[in-house]
Amino acid sequence: MDLVHKVLNILLPPISTILLLCFFPLYLVFKFLYYIKRHIFSENVSGKVVLITGAASGIGEQISYEYAKRGACLVLVDIKEDRLGAVVEKARNLGSPDVIAVGADVSKVEDSERFVRAAVDHFGRLDHLVNNAGIGVSGQLKDMKNLLPRRVMDVNFWGTIYSTHFALPHLTKSKGKIIVIASTLGWYPAPKLGFYVASKAAVINFYESLRSEIGGDVGITIVTPGLIKSEMSDNLAKKVIDNPIICA
Ligand SMILES: *[C@@H]1O[C@H](CO)[C@@H](O)[C@H](O)[C@H]1NC(C)=O
Repeated sequence: MDLVHKVLNILLPPISTILLLCFFPLYLVFKFLYYIKRHIFSENVSGKVVLITGAASGIGEQISYEYAKRGACLVLVDIKEDRLGAVVEKARNLGSPDVIAVGADVSKVEDSERFVRAAVDHFGRLDHLVNNAGIGVSGQLKDMKNLLPRRVMDVNFWGTIYSTHFALPHLTKSKGKIIVIASTLGWYPAPKLGFYVASKAAVINFYESLRSEIGGDVGITIVTPGLIKSEMSDNLAKKVIDNPIICA
């Protein structure tokens, strides 16, 4: 047995490297062709029902307008309920046939269940779930005086999971799509942003796993934007601070 281990230890690394070199280029070619196909035959979302979390500002707000321009029906969710009215109005003007707003905290299981139910009760179906709601946190571990950073995982990771859990049966029925807004920071370490990058890394790895779990019925798109100018990034940049602080 020892001998087998020794031989494998010597042989396996070069064999896997050679296999990787053979198959990785093929994989990239396949991905590239698929990418071109998706650009030529982009989905017609006119009349489809799209639920977007964190829709009151930043990336979520802009995504809402892009869907609206293409004629999708929208369910806009945000914890800042008072700010959803203006987004609803603009989305309607841009061409969305019907828009509803739901005030909710994605990190609460019962809230996530409620907004998915509101979408299906109103529209009778759900085609896309855009998991966008997220918060940032900045600060060093040594200065952490409370458990405030837990909230980053609650919103960015668990909030995304809860929404997906309740939406999945409806998305399976409609052969719909899940879109998650992660971050390039999910791949790279960043000082003082450890909790944030950890939450995004968790999201990326969870949804890569879910992709193989649910097969081809529901499409999963993991979006990894770089630095985007939004309220969250402005707040994070402004507050060069000692205590961990939450920026929404
Ligand atoms: C998109 O779908 C809608 C509703 O099903 C349909 O009325 C419209 O003609 C389609 N548009 C295109 C470009 O296929």
